[in-house]
Amino acid sequence: MKKSLLALAMLTSFGSVVACYSDTSDPASSTPSGANLPSDPPPEDGAPAPETEDGQPTTPKPTEPKPGAPDAGADAAPTPTGPQAFTQAEVQSLFTQRCGGCHDAAPMNLASSFTTSTVGVKSSQAPALSLIEPGDKSKSYLFHKLSGTQASVGGMGARMPKGGAAFSATELERLGKYIDGL
Ligand code: HEC
Repeated sequence: MKKSLLALAMLTSFGSVVACYSDTSDPASSTPSGANLPSDPPPEDGAPAPETEDGQPTTPKPTEPKPGAPDAGADAAPTPTGPQAFTQAEVQSLFTQRCGGCHDAAPMNLASSFTTSTVGVKSSQAPALSLIEPGDKSKSYLFHKLSGTQASVGGMGARMPKGGAAFSATELERLGKYIDGL
């Protein structure tokens, strides 16, 4: 109760600060206040913003991290940070190009429809783990094989792609987010 009153006060004053040097005619650039605010006070006066009612701005800009955003409404909506998850199509395209030359048949076909032989399918090198464990990259042996951490989970062999360039940190992060989102 106290907390929300305090937050309300902070938000209200923040809103007026923003209003001072923003005429709010350009919602894309007058960033941080709109997105994370709780519903009650119209935060940016002058700006008709009915869409903030549920904390979600209508402008679909989920890809934009807002490092400078104030903490006031931080519990309202998680602000995405860093690179976004790969889509399944993007993962397939990477696997087809970088793995499919070797892994193109059972037991693990990464050349096409990789989910069939990886998601929820046991690794043969580390049978305690699935190749891809839905929702948990840290239990996904395939992810460890790409990260070079396979030995730490009871696995073996080379970092994948064998003989090829390692996945970049960004690629690993995006793949990790894809797996964690399954
Ligand atoms: C040049 C051939 C080659 C390429 C390219 C390659 N692999 Fe492999 N992969 C192997 C071989 C050989 C093994 C078994 C020996 C080892 O692990 O070092 C293996 C094993 C694996 C395993 C362990 C399977 C299990 O059931 O435990 C995974 C997971 C894997 N690879 C994933 C990938 C991924 C993902 C890619 C693409 C990014 C890839 N590999 C690219 C040759 C390759």
